[in-house]
Amino acid sequence: MALDLFSAVNLGSISLKNRMVMAPLTRNRAAEGGVPQPMNVTYYEQRASAGLIITEATPISVMAHGYPALPGIYTDAQVAGWKKVTDAVHAKGGKIVIQLWHVGRISHPTLLPNGALPVAPSAVKPAGQAFTYQGLVDYVEPRALDANELPAIVADYVHAAQSALAAGFDGVEIHAANGYLIDQFLRDGSNKRTDNYGGSFENRARFLMEVTKAVVDVAGADKVGIRISPVNPFNDMHDSNPQALFNYVTSALNQFNLAYLHTIEGDMSGQDNSFDFVAMRQLFKGSYMANLGYDKARGNAAIASGHADVIAYGVPFIANPDLVERYRTNAPLNEADSSTFYGGTEKGYTDYPFLSA
Ligand code: PHB
Repeated sequence: MALDLFSAVNLGSISLKNRMVMAPLTRNRAAEGGVPQPMNVTYYEQRASAGLIITEATPISVMAHGYPALPGIYTDAQVAGWKKVTDAVHAKGGKIVIQLWHVGRISHPTLLPNGALPVAPSAVKPAGQAFTYQGLVDYVEPRALDANELPAIVADYVHAAQSALAAGFDGVEIHAANGYLIDQFLRDGSNKRTDNYGGSFENRARFLMEVTKAVVDVAGADKVGIRISPVNPFNDMHDSNPQALFNYVTSALNQFNLAYLHTIEGDMSGQDNSFDFVAMRQLFKGSYMANLGYDKARGNAAIASGHADVIAYGVPFIANPDLVERYRTNAPLNEADSSTFYGGTEKGYTDYPFLSA
């Protein structure tokens, strides 16, 4: 029988009962101290029929924060809060990995300890505004990291990965996409360095490779995935040659035998035809997770053609906790309410109806 979205699959050591993955989605509903709270447990538990859940992007340290009400994965209280999430998902037969996040320049002194400046590969201020507790405020020029500060950030990723394993996650996803710290090193619109972390593809990918090696060393490669977004301009990102850069990155990641490579195949607002994602994917020897604008038909087609092993769905999982069952039975989908995506209460979070309701 041909493979489709409902076929089981293994990503590294993680066994999935189907190939529908819940994409990482920022929801800004953690309690004080970045601690997951009961409504977060309910939200993830409701979506445990996904083959795999990837949590919302989760800061690895106090300096990794860039938005209000994010959960963290670096304190004991956060680990205890996440343990309730992973226990609830596992009790429903689901699998869940946590996305490890450092925002770099996409932050603001009011969100950082002692009003610190955000850090970045280079002192390049992004266009746009930060979401702060005081509302939208222009981004500031970040402080360029000295190369001798990078090992401490790598150590923060390691500590976060260890915390994730202690919290019962099935693995971790390293967030190297969407204009946050690792992506700021990768793309030359934000990386103007002249040391061995800037310039060549090898140099710009060095920080990603160092983080990946360190996380793989503590978690095991079969529990580690990576997310990239080669052409997403979100967060004022651009690169002079994305195809060559991400072909290089994809090939270089083969050395690790990762659980998966997860790719946002275009601009978050739509598909991008300027980049050959099929060619990039063919350079990767492991499992491939495709994301962006897929529906049931396109997801099945991508799996049948061998382009993708699994498909990550974002907004459809916000509005449809039972998206797998709805796709399986060709049932209508609930509409997502974008006014409740970021922050707030249970409304627009845990109150979307199931088919059975
Ligand atoms: C967001 O909070 O808007 C956000 C977070 C992480 C992403 C993309 C967007 O990767």
